[in-house]
Amino acid sequence: MRSVTKTPSHSHVRAVRKKRAKPRESAVLTDRVIDGFTLKEKIGEGGTAVVYAAEDREKRRFAVKIALSKKFNGILDNESERLGQLDHPAILKGISSGTTYGRSYIATEYLEGQSLAHEMGKPGIIPWEKAKKIVMRLCDALHELHRKGLAHRDVTPGNIHLLPDGSIKLLDFGLTQEFDQCFPQKPGSIEGSPKYMAPEAAAGLKHDHRADIYSTGVILYALMTGDLPLRGDSEGETLMKHINEDPQKPSERAKHLDFSEGADEVVMKALDKDPTKRYQSILELKEAISEISIYHGLSCCTAYATLEAGEITEVGAAAAAC
Ligand SMILES: Nc1ncnc2c1ncn2[C@@H]1O[C@H](COP(=O)(O)OP(=O)(O)OP(=O)(O)O)[C@@H](O)[C@H]1O
Ligand SMILES: [Mg+2]
Repeated sequence: MRSVTKTPSHSHVRAVRKKRAKPRESAVLTDRVIDGFTLKEKIGEGGTAVVYAAEDREKRRFAVKIALSKKFNGILDNESERLGQLDHPAILKGISSGTTYGRSYIATEYLEGQSLAHEMGKPGIIPWEKAKKIVMRLCDALHELHRKGLAHRDVTPGNIHLLPDGSIKLLDFGLTQEFDQCFPQKPGSIEGSPKYMAPEAAAGLKHDHRADIYSTGVILYALMTGDLPLRGDSEGETLMKHINEDPQKPSERAKHLDFSEGADEVVMKALDKDPTKRYQSILELKEAISEISIYHGLSCCTAYATLEAGEITEVGAAAAAC
């Protein structure tokens, strides 16, 4: 594994393309029947696919994810292959897959609840004890991939689903690859989500499961402080910051919170620029997270932020609401 020693120039970053196009309005597919599943309401739309709630002939609920256009079929086909390789209670369960009108689709179990991104974007507090359980369960899900030699490569709050009973499901395996295949599939492009991307992936270098450990560190940082560790005014600037800039320690970023001893070190180790200096396994990171406590007055809490919208809510205001 190469460490990030070479600093790409700004022009390099400007030249990179994110794999996702801007979300586009997809054709309305409600009531279309695909492979025995009748599509109902739209429940999600990303840059590559649209997700519908669906019913089978016995009126049981499922979800069907369909590529936005043929050019994203490869990502959907990869996801359906990965779902077939994975079997874990914290990972979305695939049911079947195929092609409809030239576009790839995947039928999966239907998940009640909403994404962690949705929860983090809502005004309010995510109590630390709840946040901690979410990240530790994410570690379990990632362990299922890593032990099979796979890296998820797009670990973000939008790809973590929170169920009403407090459990989670990791989803969106479109970019998942074997460790020796973890590099941009198209030369000169960057795949994934810049705000959560490991420096080596942001630099277009070969990477592995330790890129997921970094992304988990970004989510951990956000849940602990209410802010992202690094953010730029553009995707290119955000990538450059992940490559070159060290974030503030959580205790410096969220001065109103009282972190237990060693909390800063856990987060900063997960976010080390050099993958060889990070936790080397996701279960080591999980163990370290289990030791973290955050105190604020009578309640333990994290601040909140509208992270996905790219805006930051005053951390102090969130603390006051605690
Ligand atoms: N099985 C499901 N049950 C319920 N909701 C789902 C399911 N699958 C996906 N969703 C919802 O749809 C959203 C988009 O799903 P997913 O991330 O798989 O698609 P995507 O097109 O790859 O998205 P993006 O490009 O934004 O990452 C998720 O954030 C989630 O809220
Ligand atoms: Mg997604």
